[in-house]
Amino acid sequence: MTTLVIDRIGLLVTNDPTVGDGALGLLRNASVVVDGSTIVSIGAAGETADERIDADGRCVIPGFVDSHSHLVFAGDRSDEFVARMAGASYSAGGIRDTVRATAEASDETLRGIVAARRVEALHAGITTLEIKSGYGLTPAAEARCLHLARELTPETTFLGAHVVPHEYVGRADDYVALVCGEMLAAAAPSSRFVDVFCEVGAFDAEQSREVLRAGRAAGLIPKIHANQLGHGPGVALAVEMDCASADHCTHLTAADIAALADSNTVATLLPASDFSTRQPYPDARRLADAGVTIALATNCNPGSSNTTSMSFCLALAVRDLGMTPDEALLAATTGGAAALRRTDLGRLTVGGHADMSLLAAPTYLHLFYRPGVPLVDLVMMRGVVSGRFGGSSVIALEDFDAVHEFERVIRRGEGMRTDS
Ligand code: NIG
Repeated sequence: MTTLVIDRIGLLVTNDPTVGDGALGLLRNASVVVDGSTIVSIGAAGETADERIDADGRCVIPGFVDSHSHLVFAGDRSDEFVARMAGASYSAGGIRDTVRATAEASDETLRGIVAARRVEALHAGITTLEIKSGYGLTPAAEARCLHLARELTPETTFLGAHVVPHEYVGRADDYVALVCGEMLAAAAPSSRFVDVFCEVGAFDAEQSREVLRAGRAAGLIPKIHANQLGHGPGVALAVEMDCASADHCTHLTAADIAALADSNTVATLLPASDFSTRQPYPDARRLADAGVTIALATNCNPGSSNTTSMSFCLALAVRDLGMTPDEALLAATTGGAAALRRTDLGRLTVGGHADMSLLAAPTYLHLFYRPGVPLVDLVMMRGVVSGRFGGSSVIALEDFDAVHEFERVIRRGEGMRTDS
């Protein structure tokens, strides 16, 4: 196996307080040596290896762990965004438009669109990406979406309970029975998590509980879209069901925060959707001060948050959610890992995965200080380099059976960057 060193790193963020300063485990004038997909050494600059990348004093951070995305969709809802900017409010109803557009796309078209989005996210520094279904809403269509997602990531989530489809309007309980029965059976083999949109206009607490219970009985880990558009029972249900995460958490009571603080459930904040729906921002300061584990995620989807830019989310988290830069960076890395119940992601350690980004900046603070600027110069995912230095965009995922399929669709995605 060829070894590779990233040398002369001005500032290395390890997220490991046992090897460097503070919660971010900061090291200066450092190097990282990688063998295959694994980090084999972290230390002072000057290490040698078969190949060398000169960081020239710039900053290296762990790859972002984006624990909430809805990447499998076709169509465009920019008109909805424009209407919202003119005063219309966001509702779950637009999901049905995307369900129609997604059904009309062939497997090949959809695969290419999703691969293009994955490449976009990778170049934004996202080395781990969760992908949900939720724009199928029939057993076959949900299974198709999850199958496509599984070609790109093991972190897949069954979200058949995203909205009640047209043909079930007025018969939500019948739809929940379908989700918990035939649809779950079709989806479970390609899913790691089960999720439900618990909100007025989507599913109530009892229906949500039923979906999560059925998913858990099928071996899936529960998650929940909670308290996005208003106060509601979602967060309390997340804690009751020991969900890996309660996602959105835009509207929280003191009791919600206390319950999260006393639980294993991560509060996953999705500020790009609050931005794009003109919702208030969640009070991350109160959550952090209460000791709640926070994740930041992009929530890339066609309705409420059409972005793969974790840097944008980081900037919002510091500017508008009350997080410090260090808290925000941890939330986008180790926080995301916690929301996926993964202990092997989000930090740079010897023996750990070689997932990291080299920034075109001397410090990670530029992620907040230079908002909107694409600062990820090079991204390494499981030891494979993509970006200015690497040339190739081939991704290696050693622990992922469909690696060759992944490489194939990623390559196709490189040449197919429009959502048609
Ligand atoms: O997380 N809230 C539910 N799901 C997405 C939005 C989906 C859509 O509008 O298409 C979200 O914001």
